[in-house]
Amino acid sequence: MSIEQLFLKRQSTREYSDAPVSDEQLEEICRLATLAPSAVNSQPYKLYAVNGEKAKQFAKNVQILGSNKWASSCPSFIVIQEGKPAIVERLGQRLLKTEFLPIDVGILSAYIVLAAEDMGLQTCILGMRDEKGIAKFLGLDEGAKFPLVIAVGHAPEGYPVREKKRNPLNETYTLIK
Ligand SMILES: Cc1cc2nc3c(=O)[nH]c(=O)nc-3n(C[C@H](O)[C@H](O)[C@H](O)COP(=O)(O)O)c2cc1C
Repeated sequence: MSIEQLFLKRQSTREYSDAPVSDEQLEEICRLATLAPSAVNSQPYKLYAVNGEKAKQFAKNVQILGSNKWASSCPSFIVIQEGKPAIVERLGQRLLKTEFLPIDVGILSAYIVLAAEDMGLQTCILGMRDEKGIAKFLGLDEGAKFPLVIAVGHAPEGYPVREKKRNPLNETYTLIK
């Protein structure tokens, strides 16, 4: 698959079949995602894969305010936990008044969804989540931060690949020469 085909095929999938995702597939997605770049290579995150019966119990943590009801059908989730940025990254952030951590997490999540798609799995990045509920679920401190969760599974037979709705390129892109 060309990179363009991969980008066009990857979409937010909001319905999943009963087909399971293996523990090995989840580990491989996470291994590939750790190849993502991060500011001063600080890799300020941890990844948790939630699979099988545990995923069914986990779904409620991404269904706050009535959102993501479809997540109940999702066979697995990858949870990103925010870590502490390295000292150099923190110094750089202060100096440049830029928070790199959310940028690092965003890039990581892009790697996760594209690695999964390349392995024939579908995903949805989830910003609607209950961080306290996730911390409790994972047995971590109440203050732990989980900026994103990724739903991972198989789209059901016939689930359409939607046309991408994106702004016209000339609204986003300018060539200077
Ligand atoms: C940071 C972030 C948070 C998101 N949160 C949710 C969410 O909670 N629920 C959901 O269904 N989609 C969520 N999405 C998916 C976006 O709605 C989706 O990426 C966008 O509409 C473009 O569609 P596409 O992913 O199918 O190309 C999120 C995407 C990002 C990048």
